[in-house]
Amino acid sequence: MLRLTKDKILTLTKEYGNAFYLLDSCQFQENFTRLSNEFKKIYGNFNIAYSYKTNYTPKLCKIINDNGGYAEVVSDMEMEIALRVGVHPSRIIYNGPIKNTAKVNSLLLSGGTVNLDSVYELENIISLAEMHPDKTFNVGIRCNFDVGDGVVSRFGVDTESDDFEKILNIFKAYKNIHLINLQCHFAKRNVEFWPARAEGMAKTAHRVAGLLGYMPERIDIGGGIYGNMEDSLKAQFTAKIPEYSEYAKAAATVFKEYFPDEKPELVIEPGSALAGDCMKFVGRVETVKTVRGKTYITMLGSQKNIGMAGINPPMEVISMGKESCEFTDADIVGYTCIEGDVMFKGFNGRLAIGDYLVFSNCGSYSLVMKPPFILPNFPVLDVCGNEVEIIKKQEAFDDIFHTFSF
Ligand SMILES: Cc1ncc(COP(=O)(O)O)c(C=O)c1O
Repeated sequence: MLRLTKDKILTLTKEYGNAFYLLDSCQFQENFTRLSNEFKKIYGNFNIAYSYKTNYTPKLCKIINDNGGYAEVVSDMEMEIALRVGVHPSRIIYNGPIKNTAKVNSLLLSGGTVNLDSVYELENIISLAEMHPDKTFNVGIRCNFDVGDGVVSRFGVDTESDDFEKILNIFKAYKNIHLINLQCHFAKRNVEFWPARAEGMAKTAHRVAGLLGYMPERIDIGGGIYGNMEDSLKAQFTAKIPEYSEYAKAAATVFKEYFPDEKPELVIEPGSALAGDCMKFVGRVETVKTVRGKTYITMLGSQKNIGMAGINPPMEVISMGKESCEFTDADIVGYTCIEGDVMFKGFNGRLAIGDYLVFSNCGSYSLVMKPPFILPNFPVLDVCGNEVEIIKKQEAFDDIFHTFSF
């Protein structure tokens, strides 16, 4: 990413306003390649299904597609993004607890994959299969089992349950419902749970293959990989932040043992690991005040913009050359009216009104989870190349209010 100097910031603010996101699409591409290579070193038949929900910026989704990755979507909205960036339906994996039936059917009819989250989704799949006996439908199952992380997840089908058996029996009975993949996802990103998820899936795959007489083409062991972080951010987690290679070793080694000929394809569904360090947020310092001994520095920006709460993101001060003051234990707070909208707690250092603050690691669950609360959202600019590319325009009043009746 380009180096952020006072002059560069001034140029950007003149054109795009006093707050914006900076996207580094080159870093995203690099993360995809590096993460893939770590897994491929151990298990060659490997691919990534990018979790769109993490950051569905179309440019990022397109990079995944251009690099041969799958699109992992959890709504018809996300599926539409995939189709609009040119993803072939056969490269789309539709997950999620509640799905749009019409979209499920059109994806299945065009060769895409739909993962069942519950037994209730079977009814529709069965009628589709009966209606089109000449077509084969690629269906997967989201698997739910214990990986020792202390969580009872609400997602997927318990692999030890009657529902799981019932679903498998339907696959067996209907020759045109094809079990193309087994999938799982566990939210905790600790690497110590990765061998258990790989082993759980490998065992389930062998069990299922025994029953159906074929091995599903793909085993998708989900997301939940930490992204690249600066040391200041890593230090705020109680656990050690693993490298990509540690996740690869933990999971792909198990796969190599269970599937020495590297069939099925091993798939992971990362979001944060690819997008986390690909976005910065920049905003101007607007006011400074001291209230009953506590200093507040208010900026144009919000916790809602950076997708982080209770953690101090890596932050850089770009001085605009005005006379600055020394601060001790000041809170840098956002423009919203939420008391807890603290973007950086306990700031120590020099700062002036009019300076710009640059927050790193804002790429995952930030842009996509920003509500239109108090202000429309700021623009997104890709600064990876020589030219600034507008990825998302500044949101306007009408972008938020055209669905309301006045
Ligand atoms: C099904 C599924 N896959 C992948 C992900 C991506 O998770 P992460 O950003 O931790 O990699 C999520 C996140 O919630 C998810 O629900």
